Amino acid sequence: MSYSPSSPIKRHSPRVTVIGAGKVGSTLAQRIAEKNLADVVLLDIVEGMPRGLALDLMEARGIELHNRQITGTTNYADTFGSNVVVITAGFPRKPGMTRDDLLLTNAKIVVEAAKKAMTYSPDAIYIVVTNPLDVMTYLVWQAIGLPRVDLEGRHVARRRIMGMAGVLDSARFETFISMELGVCPLDVKAMVLGSHGDLMVPLPRYATVNGIPITELLDAATIERLVQRTRNGGAEIVELMQTGGAFYTPASSTCVMVESILLNQSRLLPIAAYLQGEYGLNDIFIGVPCRLGYSGIEEVVELKLTDAERDALHTSAQEVRKNIDRAQEVFAAVSR
Ligand code: NAI
Ligand code: 2OP
Repeated sequence: MSYSPSSPIKRHSPRVTVIGAGKVGSTLAQRIAEKNLADVVLLDIVEGMPRGLALDLMEARGIELHNRQITGTTNYADTFGSNVVVITAGFPRKPGMTRDDLLLTNAKIVVEAAKKAMTYSPDAIYIVVTNPLDVMTYLVWQAIGLPRVDLEGRHVARRRIMGMAGVLDSARFETFISMELGVCPLDVKAMVLGSHGDLMVPLPRYATVNGIPITELLDAATIERLVQRTRNGGAEIVELMQTGGAFYTPASSTCVMVESILLNQSRLLPIAAYLQGEYGLNDIFIGVPCRLGYSGIEEVVELKLTDAERDALHTSAQEVRKNIDRAQEVFAAVSR
């Protein structure tokens, strides 16, 4: 048998672009490649750095046993034809900062990144990670300018643009429950809705340990303590690290969404999705349970909430709305 290097095997791998090759972006690239989900293009504004990271990840392939291509670049042309684009570009929090302090700086970065990425990947599904998450996702939606519905009445923008936060916040809530009860984290399922911030809405009523509601296993004061720790989950890590924010679980959480899309798993996940009347909210991105598959968000699932849960969701949405309004000035300036 002869081998001819001039006729290489043609592969049609899915491709994921990760914009922002910092802590979250580079860890996400590693997760996607090592789970063998897709080829990855890692893009940053810093010359050389994404190429160095990509080469480093490529050199581990023989050890980690995958054959995914990881490319580092500063050029959007290299991202063409991506199935999924993840935006992590922007600044993380420093101690004492809230996610909203990042608003105006990161708004400019994500709007420019989304417009450029859309030129080369017009059919991609876009996942936003940059903070403040719900507002940045709204700005990406504005920047990309997809129609709200297509000719068949399908929600185009809603399917294809979304934010990652609920998977992370839920993972934190699950972790604190499992630590409190001394049970395996695999057995704990919980859901956190609302905005990614102090006003997020953990739902203890829907949290279970292998089907047993946690309200049967923990008293109200303990549950409230775990809820508060979840709300403070990002800040707790920023305070400890002093040099930036969490990135391992944020990367894992984003990878769960990428996987559900590429493998068409239709997982039911809390996702910042565009709402058009669901939960009594309109024209806003906020965390709600969604089915996520190959075409993006297949369905927003409406849970029956108590009055207190619904009020908390609406309070959270009011804060997001205020910041969307604040960011409009930046959006207009970048769009001129
Ligand atoms: P990082 O500072 O490690 O990385 C950010 C990267 O973005 C840097 O490499 C920087 O050079 C790059 N960048 C800046 N401007 C850019 C531009 N115009 N184009 C392309 N790249 C650009 O920060 P880290 O820790 O990776 O966090 C990234 C963002 O994700 C932050 O805004 C952070 O707050 C957010 N985050 C959100 C989470 C969520 O649950 N939604 C969880 C964790 C982080
Ligand atoms: C987190 O929750 C900083 O949003 C980031 O870790």
